[in-house]
Amino acid sequence: MVNDMHNIVKIEHPVLEHSLTILRDKNTNTEEFRRHTAVVSQIMIMEATRNLPVRKRTIETPLSLVDGFEISSEIVLVPVLRAGISMLLAAKELLSWAPVGFIGLERDEQTAKAREYYQKFPAELNAKHILVLDPMLATGGSLVDTIKALGKKGGGKISAVCIVAAPEGIDMVNARCPDVQIFTAAIDYKLDESKFIVPGLGDFGDRYFGT
Ligand code: PRP
Ligand code: URA
Repeated sequence: MVNDMHNIVKIEHPVLEHSLTILRDKNTNTEEFRRHTAVVSQIMIMEATRNLPVRKRTIETPLSLVDGFEISSEIVLVPVLRAGISMLLAAKELLSWAPVGFIGLERDEQTAKAREYYQKFPAELNAKHILVLDPMLATGGSLVDTIKALGKKGGGKISAVCIVAAPEGIDMVNARCPDVQIFTAAIDYKLDESKFIVPGLGDFGDRYFGT
């Protein structure tokens, strides 16, 4: 079940809740963390793509002609390096044909402001549906920077898929990028003084990559 509030969609599914709880658990090891990230990401990407337009496609089975469907919008996947790579691995199982653009952002540990260190997007993004993949939406700075960078390359319709979101980040994206819809598995309580999400799950990239 999905609850819509403004531009945020909170995805609800028992398997998602189960795997998210394992991700949050500080005793979960890297192997389990990766496995449950894949489960969570696949469910979330299924929901984020639920309303994609389709067009009729007639094909021939070994026995007869039959009318089927194919997705008619062009999708571009944009993982935010580094942690977004974890969600790209799941997304490419479902949307194996979709081009992938990359942006590398890293938060400064003192200021929590993101610094861009890499960018490579496919050409002509304007008519495309872009799925930004970033597991953590904390202050919102990284997501807003990503959306702005995509805007400079032509934009397109943008949806963001973030496993855990803080109210501060949701508010910032809402205010600065009102057209962007955010899909999340959890709206958490707050940010702490280091701008980490509480209760959150800690540093996603470090836990996923074992650093
Ligand atoms: C994390 C996360 C987001 C960002 C969210 O990345 O993956 O990109 O922080 O924080 P914000 O909403 O306050 O900008 P991090 O900078 O830790 O880099 P990493 O992916 O390389 O671990
Ligand atoms: N990035 C993370 O990985 N975790 C947080 O709680 C905030 C930003």
